Amino acid sequence: MWWFASPRIAFGEDALEFLESLEGKFFVVTDSNLVKSGVVEKAVKHLRGEIEIFDGVEPDPSFEIVEEAVAVARTFQPDYVVGIGGGSSLDVAKGVRIIYENPHLNPEEISPWTDVEEKGVKLILIPTASGSGSEASNAIVLTKKDEDRKIASVHPRIMADYAIVDPEMVKDLPERVAVFTGLDALSHAIDAYVSAWKNDFTDGICIQACKLLFTYLPRACKDRSDREAVERVHNAATLAGLAIGSSQAGLSHSLGHSIGGVLHIPHGFACGICLPYTTKYYSRFALEYYEELAYHLGIQAKKEEAVDELVKKIKTLLADLNVPDNLKGIFKEYGIGEEEFYDNLKRLVYNASTDNTVLTLADIPSEEDFEKLFIHAFEGKDVDF
Ligand SMILES: [Fe+2]
Repeated sequence: MWWFASPRIAFGEDALEFLESLEGKFFVVTDSNLVKSGVVEKAVKHLRGEIEIFDGVEPDPSFEIVEEAVAVARTFQPDYVVGIGGGSSLDVAKGVRIIYENPHLNPEEISPWTDVEEKGVKLILIPTASGSGSEASNAIVLTKKDEDRKIASVHPRIMADYAIVDPEMVKDLPERVAVFTGLDALSHAIDAYVSAWKNDFTDGICIQACKLLFTYLPRACKDRSDREAVERVHNAATLAGLAIGSSQAGLSHSLGHSIGGVLHIPHGFACGICLPYTTKYYSRFALEYYEELAYHLGIQAKKEEAVDELVKKIKTLLADLNVPDNLKGIFKEYGIGEEEFYDNLKRLVYNASTDNTVLTLADIPSEEDFEKLFIHAFEGKDVDF
């Protein structure tokens, strides 16, 4: 038996107005930049009741931030926890709801089988970027600071009651943020389509998310006033979030989580740039799935040729978005040199090969293959091993 779970999703123009139908005490979890830029206010003005805003969420949020926010929530005693933000704020909000209801739980130890109490606090997630899909998934990714690694916790109670997917919240997203968050969404859709946990409920979702992203992401990134493109990409990100909620992310995320934890570049760049390499490598275990996905994206070729065409399509998308198709290029933009990469290679390999996402791979690459994958992705060499 398996479950496909979803929050109730309000989407499209004016989706935020749904909030006006709720009454009670709202504990808003967000970050200070979103408060300053006025984005939080776009949602908060629709809340009817007492409001407390916790704006201490940091990028790559830690377990400590969840505890800090729960302590504030405990004094406030909310009826609703409202996450407003990118993946970081939404993940912290998810952590806050489950820990607020279960103070004895250590967030690090939450697994799908953990017994939890439900005390009626509702969780509402409002994404301000189109990427993480966190608003629609049952996972929290938090950083263990002392180990420089990201840990994913999965549980049905982590799923939001409501996701509000309103394009108004993302229309002022800076171009570069729109680019890397969109690449994260694409990585989710492709990873979930080839996961060992793929299923009939997520396959169609993944295909539609990929179609939307290949079609609309370049337009949405170049011109944020292109309402159609911005809205379709926003929907695609939530679709891809639903897909990983049931099928889980895969190899691009094993590498991506590791890179993000050790070298701190945006998650979407880390996963998206690894995608051509993980696609080629992993096709040895999931050729039929890649061939099928390629077909739905308009690629006529068969078997390995279909994979090669799909890799080409991903690289063309990266080029359209002005993103290098190798890690060396993106690291340069963040001041990370060749030496730093190779100095950290062993740690990158270890963290990737022990990342939770390897659990849903049809076969787990050897450490040697992980090392080769990192090097090929860094140097921009075609996977030929
Ligand atoms: Fe991701």
